Amino acid sequence: MTTRVGVIGAGNIGTAHALNLARAVSGASVGVVFDADAVRAEALSAELGARAVRSVTEVFDADDVDAVLIASPDGVHAEQLMIGFGVGKPILCEKPLAVGEADARAVLDAEVALGRRLVQLGFMRRFDPGYVQLKAELTPEGIGEPLIVHNIHRNTRAPYGLVTEQTLTNMVIHEFDIARWLLEEEYASIMVLAGTPGPLTPAGQHDPLLVVLQSASGVIVEIEAFANARYGYEVVCRVTGSQGQAVMGDGSFVTRSKAFTRGVGLPELWLGRFAEAYRLQLQGWVDAVRSEGPFPGASIWDGYAATVVANRAIEAHRTGRRVAIDLPPRPVLYT
Ligand SMILES: NC(=O)c1ccc[n+]([C@@H]2O[C@H](COP(=O)([O-])OP(=O)(O)OC[C@H]3O[C@@H](n4cnc5c(N)ncnc54)[C@H](O)[C@@H]3O)[C@@H](O)[C@H]2O)c1
Repeated sequence: MTTRVGVIGAGNIGTAHALNLARAVSGASVGVVFDADAVRAEALSAELGARAVRSVTEVFDADDVDAVLIASPDGVHAEQLMIGFGVGKPILCEKPLAVGEADARAVLDAEVALGRRLVQLGFMRRFDPGYVQLKAELTPEGIGEPLIVHNIHRNTRAPYGLVTEQTLTNMVIHEFDIARWLLEEEYASIMVLAGTPGPLTPAGQHDPLLVVLQSASGVIVEIEAFANARYGYEVVCRVTGSQGQAVMGDGSFVTRSKAFTRGVGLPELWLGRFAEAYRLQLQGWVDAVRSEGPFPGASIWDGYAATVVANRAIEAHRTGRRVAIDLPPRPVLYT
């Protein structure tokens, strides 16, 4: 049976997800689209042969919608998830779960109160073949115990005009999640350093940033985030292990020799770098919806943890101090 998906948010990523669902994911179709900008919803609906509706509630309530994809801006994910919980259909929600800690906690509490997991969160890097291979290296047969995780996350230009705090809650949140996933443990503390600003950094803002976390067992996780790097979109993760090193990112693209130079092409946007991860994420979610099996991706707990870390990062940046990260006990629903 085909899973009929309703899409909320027809911008950059919502459109990419909708096209993937309609054309590249088996067992899925898109029947309904909502966007706060009705013109966008109409345009995407016309392209897919779907119908545009006028509200979030209409998407969740539609008889011909089995599951819902939320790809609206960061600040409305929490309230839209709450509407969805009232209806009970499976949801794939883009990251972050919420911008603020209180909203993230409210969504977590609401799903726990429901007593079943309705949501997979869009931390798609967990499906990226590069990260999957990197994680497989963290074994006695591979590079051994991870000791330090070095990350680089650079955007060509700041998406949505990100400024310092949004860099942490929107962009670096990918690293907060993926390093937690790689290490399979929570963080204990965080520091944020802001150095010389880049040429496009708005006055009073900080870009690039260097974030240093320490995990509960002591592993160091270091992240360079540069939202206005100008030269391209690049993500690198390099793990120093007890028996060696594994590097993901350098060389994950084709090296071309031409006109007396040898080089590696870089995408302008994340859609190029993580295309396969987005597709695999959607396929995994649709397969889980169809089989009523467990979701293969990040949970609301993972989203909550990442939002807490991002908010501690903001505090660390504001105060210049190393800030402790203390999560409440993980609810049984997520064990
Ligand atoms: N996982 C990833 O790698 C990844 C990549 C890009 C974006 N994202 C996330 O996806 C979300 C959307 O990002 P984007 O790049 O597509 O942004 P975008 O600005 O291109 O699109 C957002 C769309 O949402 C619409 N919108 C605004 N308010 C709305 C509301 N209340 N309800 C429904 N629609 C509303 C806007 O009109 C716009 O069409 C963000 O939360 C972002 O963090 C994730």
